[in-house]
Amino acid sequence: MGAVGTVVILAAGQGTRMKSECPKVLHSICGRPMVAYVVDQALSLDPDRVVLVVGKGAEDVKNAVLAAFPQAPIEFAIQEEQLGTGHAVRCAIEHVGPGPTLILYGDMPLLRPETLRDLVRVQVEGGPGESGALSALLTVNAQDPRGFGRILRQGGPDGALERIVEERDASPAERAIKEVNVGVYAFREGILAEYLPRLSRENAQGEYYLTDVASALVSDGHPVLALQLANESDAIGINTLEQLSEARAGLQARILAEHLAAGVHIEDPATTYIDWGVEIGQGTKIFPCTMIRAGARVGRDCEVGPFSHLRTGTVLEDGSHVGNFTETKNASLGTGTKAKHLSYLGDVEIGSKVNVGAGTIVANYDGKLKHKTQIGDRAFIGSGSVLIAPTRIGKGALTGGGAVVTRGSEIADGEVWVGVPARPLSGDRESSSTE
Ligand code: UD1
Ligand code: CA
Repeated sequence: MGAVGTVVILAAGQGTRMKSECPKVLHSICGRPMVAYVVDQALSLDPDRVVLVVGKGAEDVKNAVLAAFPQAPIEFAIQEEQLGTGHAVRCAIEHVGPGPTLILYGDMPLLRPETLRDLVRVQVEGGPGESGALSALLTVNAQDPRGFGRILRQGGPDGALERIVEERDASPAERAIKEVNVGVYAFREGILAEYLPRLSRENAQGEYYLTDVASALVSDGHPVLALQLANESDAIGINTLEQLSEARAGLQARILAEHLAAGVHIEDPATTYIDWGVEIGQGTKIFPCTMIRAGARVGRDCEVGPFSHLRTGTVLEDGSHVGNFTETKNASLGTGTKAKHLSYLGDVEIGSKVNVGAGTIVANYDGKLKHKTQIGDRAFIGSGSVLIAPTRIGKGALTGGGAVVTRGSEIADGEVWVGVPARPLSGDRESSSTE
């Protein structure tokens, strides 16, 4: 058994302030649902199980999480009515197993695994006896504490935790406190089962407050340890689209930093967008104003951008180049292949050392269905060619500038086709492309 028995993720909230039909925790950040980052946080602790408390859009949330984590030990608990954080955890109590329990929020995607490990350590090692303190929680000094529960300490800022008071229940003096409750807690085995049934709804919001468990422990004489988070931005909770965009920026910066550390040259991180989970090989150069979406893969020593858009299913083999105003989707480019200017490459398999001339368009969609195109090794696609799928262009074949290769065409290896509609040309290869 790892240090943590169960991680409970609260994700049943309505998310009304998002002004969206989409369940809040399914909003995408850098190409994956917000809640997936939180499941990663949970799994980083190697718990025996993870329980997600779901409410609004339960089925959709369940399906998205199971699809993203097919192998993980994830269970779901339903909270039909949102009666507060204490009630939400109570809905999950049947799923809670032996060992310490950690509580996370499904809308807090930037917390770092190190912080969570520290919190569990504080709980397990921080108190008297083998099982440590009964509970530990995270706090942070907020620039703007509005909306958060305030941390009250006995005898001033350095004292032991006394209780947590929600903003709507707080006095003006309490509201002036800047240390706030993040909402992340570790509890010793059995504590939640014992204390949750004692919660009452007698407060300004008529909710069962999980925070009252901490307050009750303290008044029963069991100290609750508070770990202060150094970096406030790690604790951003997402309630609005503005906060979603802030969190996106934070996660994007981390993703780019990982690529930079792995030897990917990113000239201008401020204008480079790379989704979560994109593999990029060492030595690749990414030029400004480029977007690489989830489900793309880029090899070593490639060049991408400026102004490129690599969409899902893009595979750039080692040493290939995609340049200015080129969009790729379900497109593979073999070793050393170049598509440097003004192209759309959709549903196409391109061999190695191919030159895709400026302005080449692979017309993959006939209005109803998408079709595939194949381009063989060392082919030379003239500038302004339109390849209407399905087509097959053989190895070393050439299309002339402005050729329209109509649907169903098969250009044999080494053949030269020109014109509108394109037809085979007998004679020498002409050069009509850009590099
Ligand atoms: C809670 C804390 C507050 C803390 C703040 C940090 C309580 C009573 N208060 O505030 O001290 O500063 O978090 O963000 O716990 N949720 C459910 N079911 C519910 C209610 C909430 O699943 O019935 C989930 C939400 O989806 C969200 C999380 O719990 O992920 C927090 O809910 P939210 O309403 O944002 O927090 P508060 O209760 O306002
Ligand atoms: Ca609330």
